[in-house]
Amino acid sequence: MNEILIAENIEKTYYLKNETINVLQGIDLKVEQGKFIVIFGPSGSGKSTLLNILGSLDRPTRGRVFFNNIDLFTNDDETLSKIRNKYIGFVFQFHHLLPEFTVLENVLLPAYIGDGDIKLAKERAFKILDELGIYDKKSRLPDELSGGERQRVAIARALINDPLLLLADEPTGNLDYENTNKLMEMFLHLKSEERTIILVTHSLEIVRLGDIAYNLKEGRLYAM
Ligand SMILES: Nc1ncnc2c1ncn2[C@@H]1O[C@H](COP(=O)(O)OP(=O)(O)OP(=O)(O)O)[C@@H](O)[C@H]1O
Ligand SMILES: [Mg+2]
Repeated sequence: MNEILIAENIEKTYYLKNETINVLQGIDLKVEQGKFIVIFGPSGSGKSTLLNILGSLDRPTRGRVFFNNIDLFTNDDETLSKIRNKYIGFVFQFHHLLPEFTVLENVLLPAYIGDGDIKLAKERAFKILDELGIYDKKSRLPDELSGGERQRVAIARALINDPLLLLADEPTGNLDYENTNKLMEMFLHLKSEERTIILVTHSLEIVRLGDIAYNLKEGRLYAM
């Protein structure tokens, strides 16, 4: 059994002026390569906070995360950003597309930052955009797209470097039934290529599609 991701006793506390918020209070998680993990929880339960820590975008207050046997937070930010670029794809809850770049340029951004072959990346981008049904929007700016189209651009960008681990924060939040199904099919295909997916959602329908589902409640994960 190859465990691609191990989180040990993750705690995250936010210190505001008059308030201390203990969002994560001891998260332990082991994720086997090639699995589709779903994390369910209500708004404000800490799903995005957890996903950002699992993907090394944010540091925990306490605890460790091992990705591919790398003890992530012993590394400096520059090394972490290289690891992310190479191995981890993020679909952000609020997309974070760059407004002055076209759809295609947004999707290709992680490939430009990395050391891959741009010509191959472009072919890959065309294929992914086509699978997601937004190939014909490739020259548009994000402002010229619907919410669901923007969400699909964010998904394409997360997949461009063929990540070992895909972290998806509410990736179906703006998608209709048909596009949700399309995305789930893509995820199943990724799984068949031994890619690992961790998806965060507050939809119980999506929960049923995962191999393993957890409920994030009062800062801890519970098997569902
Ligand atoms: N930078 C921050 N500073 C202070 N508090 C924060 C910060 N980020 C998040 N929080 C708080 O931490 C809690 C968890 O936030 P988080 O965004 O992880 O929730 P979530 O489960 O993703 O919610 P949603 O489903 O609405 O996206 C919330 O109470 C939020 O107000
Ligand atoms: Mg969130």
